[in-house]
Amino acid sequence: MKEKIRSKFESLFGNEGEIKTYFAPGRVNLIGEHTDYNGGHVFPCALTMGTYAVARKRNDDKLRLYSMNFEELGVLESTINELKYNIEENWINYPKSMIWAMKDDGFIIDKGFDILYYGTIPNGAGLSSSASIEILTGFVLKDLFKLDVDMTKLALLGQKAENKYVGVNCGIMDQFIIANGKKDCAIFLDTANLQYEYAKILLKNEKIVIMNTNKKRGLGDSKYNERRAECEMALQELQQKLNIKSLGELTEEEFENNKNLIKDVNRQKRAKHAVYENQRTIKAVKALKENNLELLGKLMIASHNSLRDDYEVTGKELDTLVAESLKQEGVIGARMTGAGFGGCAVSIVKSNKVDDFIKNVGNAYKEKIGYDADFYVVEIGEGPKVL
Ligand code: GLA
Repeated sequence: MKEKIRSKFESLFGNEGEIKTYFAPGRVNLIGEHTDYNGGHVFPCALTMGTYAVARKRNDDKLRLYSMNFEELGVLESTINELKYNIEENWINYPKSMIWAMKDDGFIIDKGFDILYYGTIPNGAGLSSSASIEILTGFVLKDLFKLDVDMTKLALLGQKAENKYVGVNCGIMDQFIIANGKKDCAIFLDTANLQYEYAKILLKNEKIVIMNTNKKRGLGDSKYNERRAECEMALQELQQKLNIKSLGELTEEEFENNKNLIKDVNRQKRAKHAVYENQRTIKAVKALKENNLELLGKLMIASHNSLRDDYEVTGKELDTLVAESLKQEGVIGARMTGAGFGGCAVSIVKSNKVDDFIKNVGNAYKEKIGYDADFYVVEIGEGPKVL
């Protein structure tokens, strides 16, 4: 991989000067969905799939960007002083968003650079290809400009880029796990205070299988921001009586005793999901620590049902994948992962059943939905690195 992308870089930008190669992962969330902007817990892991970059600092202020995933767009040029969002410019808004966020925070980026990207995460599948580009770009900048910025700060800057530049009001989960991923571990992150611990995922006889609906989705045009606003409003209604800062502070019981403060049925359902999903995540991590995969699986299924019925972010493609998964032998659990509205589902499957699982779920999906799903048997990888 390194050779392939370096030689492409050299053919586009020449081979003089110091050229470096970098990587940042994609992510999959095991449980804890739509909790990260509600002060709850999440439990994602980094993937070995991700984004590569080859970069070289320049002596002027020019930026030259190229993606091997969008070769038809060719080399796109800008300068480090022209970082305005431009919808026409497609993918380069993501690297630009991160340069903007870092400069806006006072980091000195006073020279341009040439950069080539190559991503192995399926685009638009909800495995965080955009957060991967953002964190990768931040990591490249940290290295090229010798910036004193730690990985948590980089994650926060990535979130700021997404919120203020791209216009998606996302939480911290994606940027945080991508910046801090660790091999064979998921991160149990409390989004209320950013405290976290690594939990080893010791799947001896099981595999993590990601299922892609192949239904394209973009967070920007989804109902993501609407869900977030609904939760914020429900919180305000609860705050009339309760002294809480986020929905993540509530137990199931506290929620049930106070839910009538929320005056709209839909908002009540959204808040219910946020509260119960947070508690499920805490229980899931405990189950995993006790090696109780059966309980982990049950919690994953309950998570999906809640995202389908209360949060209403699944849709027939994701529901079909999960329902068909649960009919198969050797399945521990399955649920949608990421923002929803399309994208991917994640399942844990006995290793010796994986081939049958993919075949059967794939056939049923094609029959019901009319086109193919894709399947990835994934490994848990590390955060950003220089290659
Ligand atoms: C997207 C967002 C995250 C998180 C998930 C849902 O991936 O970027 O912040 O809210 O959706 O859990």
